[in-house]
Amino acid sequence: MTDTDPVSAAAGQHAVIELRGVSKHYGTGSGQPVAAADEVSFAIEHGGLIALSGASGSGKSTVLHLIGAIERPDSGTIVNDGTEVTTLRGAALAAYRRSVGFVFQRYNLLPALTALDNVIAPVLPYRTGWDKAARGRQLLEAVGLGGRERSLPSRMSGGEQQRVAIARALINSPHLLLADEPTGNLDSRSATGVLDLIARVREENQMTVIIATHDPQIAARCDRLIRLRDGAVTDDIEIADGYPVDETIRRVGQLG
Ligand SMILES: Nc1ncnc2c1ncn2[C@@H]1O[C@H](COP(=O)(O)OP(=O)(O)OP(=O)(O)O)[C@@H](O)[C@H]1O
Ligand SMILES: [Mg+2]
Repeated sequence: MTDTDPVSAAAGQHAVIELRGVSKHYGTGSGQPVAAADEVSFAIEHGGLIALSGASGSGKSTVLHLIGAIERPDSGTIVNDGTEVTTLRGAALAAYRRSVGFVFQRYNLLPALTALDNVIAPVLPYRTGWDKAARGRQLLEAVGLGGRERSLPSRMSGGEQQRVAIARALINSPHLLLADEPTGNLDSRSATGVLDLIARVREENQMTVIIATHDPQIAARCDRLIRLRDGAVTDDIEIADGYPVDETIRRVGQLG
């Protein structure tokens, strides 16, 4: 197919990620299973910056884990860039997981490894065809940690550790970055820095980013807000470019 082919032109307008009727239940040991995701449906265009909000237990992490294929839904389908995620098995599943960048609230760095080794840890078992250490250094530089390659996580601030985690999430040049409350453990200045960084790397790498967050300030910086309650989508709001942050916060109200 060529660029002018009408089929590929139409494909370019398709959502990059689409969830259709996705449900996931967890057993509670007693009584009814909890619907952590309840018939969740939404479609996200390439390059979007999406806030996934809702109270604690509303299903934000579950939805991110389902999209990243860390968990498998009980029913429904998830299509990412033409790949039916829910049916992947074995090597194809592992390759898909590696193709998605994940940033966690608690950084999840390996304490015994240096910053550089943490960044390249996801690719260490694989043949990449590129110089892992060189790319790791380049990424640390890009997140403002040039010169800190040999630092251990315990010698870094929370904001710095989250920067290392963002560099690690970028090691495989993902088209999709999933960030689960990436600023939840940070003071407001570090949180702003981490958010600025995510916005910048999204721009530079032309990524789609989905951020699970309680924080209306973060949601207000996104271009769309999807709100969950008890595993179900209750609101799906576009946030227009240039819309005043204060007004957005007033409109979206308390997210937590
Ligand atoms: N592994 C699991 N086993 C059992 N129940 C789970 C599991 N993971 C999530 N749940 C339940 O599913 C529901 C959704 O949880 P989830 O972690 O997705 O919410 P969340 O919106 O990310 O919450 P938070 O803001 O506290 O991180 C909750 O009721 C939770 O207790
Ligand atoms: Mg969560």
